[in-house]
Amino acid sequence: MANYGDYQLRIYLDGLSGKLPELPVSFEDLERGAEEVMSAQLWSYVAGGAGDERTQRANVASFDRWGLMPRMLAGAAQRDLTADLLGTSLPTPLMMAPVGVIGLCDAEGHGDLATARAAAATGVPAVVSTLMQDPLEDVAAALGDTPGYFQLYPPDDRELTESFVRRAEAAGYAGIVVTLDTLTLGWRPRDLSLASFPQLKGLCLANYFTDPVFRSHLDASPERDPEAATMRWATTFGNPKLTWDDLAWLRSLTDLPLLLKGICDPEDVRRAVDGGVDGVYCSNHGGRQANGGLPALDVLPEVVDAAGDVPVIFDSGVRTGADVVKALALGATAVGVGRPYAYGMAVGGAAGVEHVLRCLLAETDLTMAIDGYPDVASLTRGSLREVR
Ligand SMILES: Cc1cc2nc3c(=O)[nH]c(=O)nc-3n(C[C@H](O)[C@H](O)[C@H](O)COP(=O)(O)O)c2cc1C
Repeated sequence: MANYGDYQLRIYLDGLSGKLPELPVSFEDLERGAEEVMSAQLWSYVAGGAGDERTQRANVASFDRWGLMPRMLAGAAQRDLTADLLGTSLPTPLMMAPVGVIGLCDAEGHGDLATARAAAATGVPAVVSTLMQDPLEDVAAALGDTPGYFQLYPPDDRELTESFVRRAEAAGYAGIVVTLDTLTLGWRPRDLSLASFPQLKGLCLANYFTDPVFRSHLDASPERDPEAATMRWATTFGNPKLTWDDLAWLRSLTDLPLLLKGICDPEDVRRAVDGGVDGVYCSNHGGRQANGGLPALDVLPEVVDAAGDVPVIFDSGVRTGADVVKALALGATAVGVGRPYAYGMAVGGAAGVEHVLRCLLAETDLTMAIDGYPDVASLTRGSLREVR
């Protein structure tokens, strides 16, 4: 059986004929490469975060606090990276987190489809955003056999919310991920300095503009009057009035697995589990929403404990395979990456995303091989020590 770490062999063997990797291997090179090719506005939107970005930096730095205990002669010649998520056996625990402007990160402007193609090629599931350049049905069709999850920003319109859920069900998504930390937009100085917000330019709104309920509220179709349609979007996008009392309604909308994203407080985990969710998604939106918060990794163990048997997806700050391993050891069932694959999209489209995922998987796999962890179950909190 091949191991994901074998990706490095391919790179070294290419090197024998003088061929260097066309795409960046380290996160730093990837980030630099993306900045070079992205417009100032897109770069600001993707790389930036809330406030002075302290939380965003802390997300990344918090991984430094943990070190993996290496175990020798542990029989890890073959690694089994499979993970079970909501009854689906995934080849690995890696996932792509929803990135609302991934459509624009692709030079052709079809990054949602390119993401789905990268998911199909690698088996890494994609959680796809409500904010897409191409309709969710087209994106689902490009996923092949790899599961996709539809991320829902619940609009301030129950009928529209229900319509999105119906469409996601019909398109074959494997679950609905409701994001709760963006009912109101965060304070983002980089974007504010450029006075730039992509969706207000009518971008990434394909799911709204193709929706029969959304269209029924318009005087003119989005094709005829895109500005009016965009303004309608702006007034319905977020629903800050949502409370835990609405969870029963959200739950009633679908028999698909329902997950809540943006959960960090164990008390919220208990409310979510009591309300019948199938999974909890621990994340602080990569530090893009509220600054001055806790690094997501710091709250992960509490979230996992409160969730009990309910699976926990984690994201925010994952940059390397070693980070993936640490999040798994702290109890995550699956680990999401955000910005790294957005940068991969910018530098190389679907092939760039595929490369980023293969690099992350190779490093995850090799870390487990070298440190003596043959499978995901062997990674536990006991595998980690605090770095002094
Ligand atoms: C440019 C950008 C757009 C995002 N759009 C969404 C979105 O539409 N829905 C959502 O739930 N999260 C969104 N997120 C948050 C990601 O799903 C994820 O929580 C975050 O990127 C993780 O942090 P990281 O990028 O540092 O890995 C977005 C993140 C970025 C960077």
